[in-house]
Amino acid sequence: MKFSLFTFLAATALTVVRAIPLERRDVYTPPVLYPHDGTVWYVGQRHNVTWDTSDPPVNITNKIGRIMLRKSNLTTPLILADNFSILLGRIEVTVPWVVDGSDYQIVLFGDSGNLSPFFTIDSA
Ligand SMILES: *[C@@H]1O[C@H](CO)[C@@H](O)[C@H](O)[C@H]1NC(C)=O
Ligand SMILES: *[C@@H]1O[C@H](CO)[C@@H](O)[C@H](O)[C@H]1NC(C)=O
Ligand SMILES: *[C@@H]1O[C@H](CO)[C@@H](O)[C@H](O)[C@H]1NC(C)=O
Ligand SMILES: *[C@@H]1O[C@H](CO)[C@@H](O)[C@H](O)[C@H]1NC(C)=O
Repeated sequence: MKFSLFTFLAATALTVVRAIPLERRDVYTPPVLYPHDGTVWYVGQRHNVTWDTSDPPVNITNKIGRIMLRKSNLTTPLILADNFSILLGRIEVTVPWVVDGSDYQIVLFGDSGNLSPFFTIDSA
């Protein structure tokens, strides 16, 4: 069996969809505040991704967060940050060396995944 990058991306995208909570209690993935619509990041810069941690449930199933990069509605294999507390509200990431585009998003994973709005990454 041949595993292409596409297979990987498709599987990752499916994971995001499947992870949407149905019945589990205290599932928690706060909304992303930054980057937002209109944000432009340049390759190599460091930025704080921020999210809203007001009103978290008492018993959070999974406190460990991960941030991944998404382009053109597909989650890429690029992990920008991992193994941080979802209650921090911010984490510093380095903008990876990727092609220019205005169709980037980040995905904040807690129990499920929350997408940021589309934003731009520029290489110059
Ligand atoms: C990210 O936030 C931390 C804590 O507020 C701050 O010390 C740091 O300078 C920020 N980083 C950037 C790139 O703004
Ligand atoms: C949170 O978990 C603790 C320990 O498992 C339990 O005693 C408590 O009732 C739970 N609280 C809620 C609001 O579910
Ligand atoms: C990505 O999804 C958004 C919202 O569902 C849609 O408006 C947009 O056309 C999609 N972009 C691509 C490249 O598929
Ligand atoms: C995750 O972070 C915790 C606390 O900072 C640390 O003890 C642990 O070793 C880290 N795990 C990985 C896989 O990096």
